[in-house]
Amino acid sequence: MTDAPAEVDWEKLRGVAREAMSRAYAPYSGYPVGVAALVDDGRIVSGCNVENASYGLGLCAECGLVSELQRTGGGRLTHFTCVDGESQILVPCGRCRQLLYEFGGPDLLLETPAGILPLSEMLPQAFGPGHLTKQ
Ligand code: THU
Repeated sequence: MTDAPAEVDWEKLRGVAREAMSRAYAPYSGYPVGVAALVDDGRIVSGCNVENASYGLGLCAECGLVSELQRTGGGRLTHFTCVDGESQILVPCGRCRQLLYEFGGPDLLLETPAGILPLSEMLPQAFGPGHLTKQ
């Protein structure tokens, strides 16, 4: 059973991502990113990228999002959007697709420049938690 609404307000979700993007700490790349997702209990979680003087240690916006998801009670991500510094819809990077797979699975819906797509199309043949429990 899910408490997520049948009709998802992508515009509202994008607004939350934009707000998160405005809080990004991206002095090195100059490329702020914001993300937001709907959880299967109706919560909305969000995140922004947080960079570091040790460049490779920068945190993508999705890291903040999954951290908030877990901290505020867990659950499954059902709908996800990502925006750049100009509030344009952005695709999540490869590593973050894996993060999203862990907490949303193949049916997670992503807003992309090519429309609404399931994660199974953005990360085909994904390696995931199921592989670790296979005999
Ligand atoms: N970035 C994200 O936060 N999420 C993505 O999915 C794409 C890339 C950030 C990482 C870095 O701070 C900046 O964008 C430039 O790569």
